[in-house]
Amino acid sequence: MSGRFITFEGIEGVGKSTQLEVARGYLQQRGIDVAVTREPGGTPLAEKIRALLLDAGHTAMAPDAELLLMFAARAQHLAEKILPTLAAGRWVLCDRFTDATYAYQGGGRGIGAERVAAVEQLVQGALRPDATILLDAPPQVGLARARARGAGADRFESEQLRFFERVRDAYLQRATAHAGRFTVIDATAELAEVSRQVTGVLDRLLTEQ
Ligand code: TMP
Repeated sequence: MSGRFITFEGIEGVGKSTQLEVARGYLQQRGIDVAVTREPGGTPLAEKIRALLLDAGHTAMAPDAELLLMFAARAQHLAEKILPTLAAGRWVLCDRFTDATYAYQGGGRGIGAERVAAVEQLVQGALRPDATILLDAPPQVGLARARARGAGADRFESEQLRFFERVRDAYLQRATAHAGRFTVIDATAELAEVSRQVTGVLDRLLTEQ
């Protein structure tokens, strides 16, 4: 028996963490054993790679170095946490996964989807999420919310609006190209409405069980 793998995506400030908690609570109430994790990170080694990636002092990181560090963290996370958890029959809710790499490195940094796909194949083989929830909002809205949180900007949050427009466009292209796996939710809607749509995705997965 294998658990389900659900990823939450979107630019900064769209409410991923809130919706991850909604999803965790909803599944737990229904007796599902869930693990919540995040990328980059999720294991001690991958969290160290995360710190390298987010360090705003690393102003000269080459785009390919960034791409490979994302996947280095992912390879560790898969081996140490995601795959064993799924194999044990638990569900995994992950705050970002490879669609973020297509969006941020592929779109935002301009590396292109082909190069991302090559490394994805190397690291993941055929593994893909069972469902991906994309919380969508214009970058102006998301960034204003993220900046209102007050913590200093990390290396990604320091980027300009245009960067996040490319990230959002790449996310939406992914959603169109993989429409069966993605659910796009308008993150500017009322919180209760966003949560209702998230739990709707979970209901669908539960009935497929
Ligand atoms: P977080 O702040 O949502 O935890 O994510 C950390 C940052 O890492 C966020 O700005 C998006 C970025 N990121 C990528 O650029 N590529 C990736 O593959 C992942 C997982 C995250």
